[in-house]
Amino acid sequence: MRPCRDPRRDARRGVTTAAGRRRDGGGAGGWPGTGGPAVPPLQAMTGRLPHLAARLQGFGTTIFAEMSALAARTGAINLGQGFPDTDGPSEVTEAAVAAIRAGHNQYPPGPGIPELRAAIARHQKRFWGLDVDPDTEVLVTAGATEALAAALLALCEVGDEVVALEPTYDSYTACAAMAGARLRPVTLHPPDYAVDLDALAAAITPRTRLLLLNTPHNPTGAVLDDAELAAIARLCVDNDLIAVTDEVYEHLVYDGTHRPLTGFPGMAERTLTISSAGKTFSLTGWKVGWACGPAPLVDAVRTAKQFLTYVNAAPFQHAIVTGLELGDDYFGGLRDELAAKRDLLCAGLTEAGFAVFRPAGTYFVTVDVRPLGFEDGMALCRSLPERCGVVAVPNEVFYADPARGKHLVRFAFCKRTEVLAEAAERLAGLRV
Ligand SMILES: Cc1ncc(COP(=O)(O)O)c(C=O)c1O
Repeated sequence: MRPCRDPRRDARRGVTTAAGRRRDGGGAGGWPGTGGPAVPPLQAMTGRLPHLAARLQGFGTTIFAEMSALAARTGAINLGQGFPDTDGPSEVTEAAVAAIRAGHNQYPPGPGIPELRAAIARHQKRFWGLDVDPDTEVLVTAGATEALAAALLALCEVGDEVVALEPTYDSYTACAAMAGARLRPVTLHPPDYAVDLDALAAAITPRTRLLLLNTPHNPTGAVLDDAELAAIARLCVDNDLIAVTDEVYEHLVYDGTHRPLTGFPGMAERTLTISSAGKTFSLTGWKVGWACGPAPLVDAVRTAKQFLTYVNAAPFQHAIVTGLELGDDYFGGLRDELAAKRDLLCAGLTEAGFAVFRPAGTYFVTVDVRPLGFEDGMALCRSLPERCGVVAVPNEVFYADPARGKHLVRFAFCKRTEVLAEAAERLAGLRV
């Protein structure tokens, strides 16, 4: 196996990037894509926190917490934060109760209980045809969130660059900042949110350490196709990059097929594949996630992870073994149920007058608010509970330059059918 890191790259640090701006190791310099000051865009909204370290200034309360609090305060239907409003399969919740009663309540082993690591390895084989050694190539984490944080902390040097598709799931920018790294966004554009491969190639500089890829993609719902993934794999191999893939929506694909990047030529030895039980089993509060990859990458990530949470969720780890062994009817049933909910909400949003970008995967749909006469998604989201009793999330928070997503809003459809129908009816009132 070729080492993922090119030692010559270290010698090249501190040089001018492809974008022509001099990078100085993560402190000063423009926030990528804005040409503006060295602060993330949210800072403008949240103000400076006096005790917060400089690298985290601007990362105020996440928009999901703000909008969920707004929903709770106003009693509006919360289509903002992505959590289901029903519990996951009873076999799995009952298995957690049984695990607690059976005394699985103390620290589990650092990499995760062997039964869960074996079940994750079987899952990778069963669904994606991937061979994974449960002893050396699987790490159980506190949700995908911890796997992402540990990966960035473990794999990035201060001043490294991380290339990611934009709009970007919010923890990526924050975790890159915590690692002293810098996120370089490559923007996906509606209506199809296809990857601009030339822009992706141009975003790679001598400082690029890794590519952080999310497919199926939150918030756009894009599912990268084989041609896109093959081209991305070639870029990773040609530039000797590590790939970290966030595949938490791997089972929520309605059009097209999910394909893990690690399965493409040259990728197995350089890809860390992250997923989570939260979305697949509608158990987002359990925070059981995992990372799979070649032993040297997993070793590195485990080194960081052990000092973040050390371990978590002992009884839930046992229960997720039951979940991962559920039959194909469960996984297919979840997908079909969510596909129907996607269709219901997309129809309601179209009827309400939004321009709707129908997602191929995930449980989110993005709309353009301009056909209804609105310009500013953030302002609309803040007033939506009052206008019609619904909460959504403004997509501008997913962009380095909020202007790029100003007119876009995200709705979650992982809610009961009657809730979605009621939300659609309320949103229809926006037109009048
Ligand atoms: C793209 C993406 N990655 C990671 C996560 C976090 O997953 P977990 O709850 O397992 O930490 C989410 C949750 O919404 C997500 O949308």
